[in-house]
Formats: sequence, C-alpha cells, structure tokens
Amino acid sequence: MKITLTFAIVLLIVLNVFSQSPLSIIPKPVSVIQPKGKAFWLKTEFPMIAPEKFRVQANYLCEAIQKQCAIQLDLSIAKTSNRSLAAITIIEDSTLKHTEQYQLSIKANGIFIRVNDARGLVNATQTLLQLLPIYESKTALLSPLEINDYPRFSYRGMHLDVVRHIFPLSYIKKYIDYLAFHKFNTFHWHLTDDQGWRMEMKNYPKLNSIASWRAATLIGHFKDNPPKYDSTIYGGFYTKKEIKEVVDYAAVRAINIIPEIDIPGHSRAVIAAYPQLSTKPDTTWNVATTWGMYNRQNNVLAPKPETFSFLESVFEELLEIFPSKYIHVGGDECSKIWWKQDTASQAFMRLNGLKNETALQTYFIEFIAQFLKSKGRQTIGWHEINEGELDTTTIVMNWGTEKQAIDAASKGFSVINTPGKPLYFDHYQSQNPNDSLSIHGYNPLEAVYNYEPIPKAILDKGLENKIIGGQANVWTEYMENEKKVDYMVLPRMTALSETLWTPSAQKSYPDFLKRLEETIIPRYQLWNSSWYKEYRKWDASSKLPNVR
Ligand code: ACM
Repeated sequence: MKITLTFAIVLLIVLNVFSQSPLSIIPKPVSVIQPKGKAFWLKTEFPMIAPEKFRVQANYLCEAIQKQCAIQLDLSIAKTSNRSLAAITIIEDSTLKHTEQYQLSIKANGIFIRVNDARGLVNATQTLLQLLPIYESKTALLSPLEINDYPRFSYRGMHLDVVRHIFPLSYIKKYIDYLAFHKFNTFHWHLTDDQGWRMEMKNYPKLNSIASWRAATLIGHFKDNPPKYDSTIYGGFYTKKEIKEVVDYAAVRAINIIPEIDIPGHSRAVIAAYPQLSTKPDTTWNVATTWGMYNRQNNVLAPKPETFSFLESVFEELLEIFPSKYIHVGGDECSKIWWKQDTASQAFMRLNGLKNETALQTYFIEFIAQFLKSKGRQTIGWHEINEGELDTTTIVMNWGTEKQAIDAASKGFSVINTPGKPLYFDHYQSQNPNDSLSIHGYNPLEAVYNYEPIPKAILDKGLENKIIGGQANVWTEYMENEKKVDYMVLPRMTALSETLWTPSAQKSYPDFLKRLEETIIPRYQLWNSSWYKEYRKWDASSKLPNVR
C-alpha cells in the first residue's frame, strides 16, 4: 500500500507538474499553450494514421522519429475517424488559413497534427522532433501541448554555390536536411559560374568535357599579390540522375529547389567551352582559376543568334529535371566593358534599338524570362536585372542594401532580400585574425538574428507586401569541403530560420541563445556537423578591426 502511494505521487508529479517547463523550439512557434493534464507515452509499435494525401510526408515523419529515438510507428493510411486508436493522427484541415500552417496537439490519448498542405506536415514534424529525445529512448513522455504555428514569410531560402567548390551528393542531401529541420522551404542551387559548370548536359557536351573542369585553383585570398595557384585539375558535375535524386529527396521534405544558371555575365566556363558565344570568338578562354572576375577578365556572352539558341536549349534541358515554378537566371555583376569594346555587340544594339549596354543586359534577361514564361515558369534574378526596364513579373533577389530593395519594390517587383550584410554566410562571423580564411566583411550571429527583412523605409512606403522573404547565400570560394560549409552556416542558419519564421515582436536574442544551446547544438552533435562555436564572443557591436 505504501509503495503504491509513493508510486502514485511520483506518477502525478511526472504527469502533471513536469508539463510546465518552457518549450525550447527553434524557430519559435507563433503560439504555444501548455495546459495542465496527463502526459502521453509515445511507444514503439503504436500506429500512426494519415490520409492518403500526406502519405509521403507521413512516412518521412515515421522514419525521422525512428532514426532519432528508435520509436517505431506503423503508418496506416486511413480516414481519421477512429482517432482514439492512434499514437499520431494526421488530419487534413482545410480551415487553416495560412499556407504551411500546422497545429500540433498533445493530449492524454495521443498526438494530433492538423495541416492543409505537405509543407505544414513537414513543419509539424520538425517541431515534434524537437520535443522528442535524441537518443535511442524507444519511448517518450510528452506533456500536454497546443501549438498553432505558421511562417512570417512565404519564401525562406538557403543558397549553396557548388561551382567554386563542389560537394558530394551525400552532403547536398545533408544540407537539405538542415533546411528541412529549420523549416526553410527553398534550396537555391547555384550550378554555373566562371569557375565551372556543374550539371550534366546533352545538347552542348563541351559544357561537361571542358566547362566542368578548371586547370588550377587559387590558393589564399584573391587579393593576395602575387596570387598563388595549385596545379590540380578540379571540377566535376552532377549527372541528371543524381540531380533527379536530389529533387526527389527535397520533395519528400517539401523543399523546392530553384536551380540557377547565371547569365549573361559569370559565363567564363561557357565561353571556354564555346568561344563562339563570346565577344572574342578567336580567343582561347580558360575556365577561371581565380575568384572575383567582374571588370578584370572577360566572362560575358555575346548577343548573337547562336547564343540565344544556346540559352533556349540549355534552359529547356534544365526544365526537364527541375519542376520548380521559379528558375534563377543570375543576371548579376555583368561587366559592360566587353560589350562596349565589341563592334558586333554594338551593331546588335543599334539593330535592336538598345540605347546602351544596360538595355542589352535587360534584353538578355527579358529574352530568357519570356522563354521561361512560355513554359509556365517564372524568372528570378539578382537585383541587377532591375537596372533597365524589365517586366515586373520577374522576381528580384536583392543582394545589395535597402536601397535596391526599395527601388525594386517601388517599381512593382516582388523582392527576396539576401543582403550581403548580414546574410552572406561567406563573410566572417568573428573578428579573430586567426579565424579560417573567408572573403571579407563581418556578419556575426547576432546581426543575422536581428536582421529585419522589412526595414522601416519599406514599411513607411507601404511596400511590405512586396518583400516575400529572405535567404542566406553561401559562396564557396573559401569553403573547400563540407566541414568548412558547416562551420560557416551553423549556427547562422539557425538564427535566420527564426528571423524568417517568427513574428518579430516575439524574438529575443538572449532567449534564442538559450534555446540554441538547449535544443539545437545537441542536434549539430548528433548530425556530426562542425559548427562554429565562438558565437558568444562576437556580437554585433564588436569593434576590433578586421585584419583582412
Ligand atoms: C552576387 O553576390 N554576385 C549575387
């Protein structure tokens, strides 16, 4: 009798009092209620019920739980009328107002997830995973809970440049897992640039036999004088089969992949393979071995019929493997000096009534945007596409400052904000002179966390609806392997996830740091990721000079 009483008291404490510890979830949900009441034991071999519409994502949820804590749930596809029998019941709910919204309820008789789209279920999955143990527990005790959650921005992206350095397919998938965990919905895959072409092509095979390989790579910083190079052939490309595998992998996680083919500048690798597409067809170009071309080396496509046929063919092949509605065409940093110096380009401009080289740049973008539109797709380009008079159905990805965002939004463009400061994750996150080499600039964790995608000037002009979201860019000149990418993106990616998801009034940096350390850093360990550890030392107000 005595033992039973003690046992009952302990049980009461566990089931009722235990439920009141504050939740540690990133990104912080919109609304969390922790009612008092009995907790729920999640156990192996309980069923999970989901409607057919969510079969793929429900299966992903089952597998994720199994992988994380060895709780094996049996997925059963059924209408959810007999809810009391299941451990997890997924309910399609068309009354949810927001895209990607989910409601997660933990009650004494089970876990209930209400969603209206696949992304909602993937988002609910990530929240649930953060409530479960990260070891082989085989069971989990879950306190009563009511979460109602949805994102602040519809576009939440992470970019990865696989040109300056290429990464194995296994890492691309791991990176997509990072995105899913952080409730990002877009992976921007930067596939072509001056230093290489990274996608298998059928119609222009030299894009792989020549443009995918460079003869050497710069060692040290690109501003070092004299520059130093290794003498190793570097490169490669992803086959279409591999790309399809990645697209499918991302689709299960409800992540859209936006591929980027960067034109009409950043095309040195293309003209190395097909010099006839350049402004100097008789030149033997190499695939770039250094970084930062701009006015320093010619890398632009020449305006001529064979270039436009090339572009149609290349984008046609791209569309065959990428289902994304949005296609990125680059458009950035196109130096005008090569077109100025080229009589054939000048003649093309006169013939087509293009008053200057900016208008020629717009002609290129408009040409490809119209082509993509005819195939039911929509174009995204870096903010330079807005230098001329472009049709505003394209979307501007702003890597500049507030000014470029305001310019584009005022003209009517939808804008994705990816400002160099603070969303370029190739910039330093410390001012430690011994930190491993990076490009320049200082974007510490705190600055990323406190970044406001809708600055006051945009709000004052009533343009807030034009900002559809944000993204961090990961240019890999100084990231030669996956460990270095991890080091540069974690934990900044975690901070950005909350910036793009959580209502700004609910954000707090000290509270974020606490949750980061309680819930997320143990994940980095679980994932065997090499994250940057000294983020507490370097805040947004650090004044030490950056020696580089
Ligand atoms: C860019 O950083 N050139 C988009």
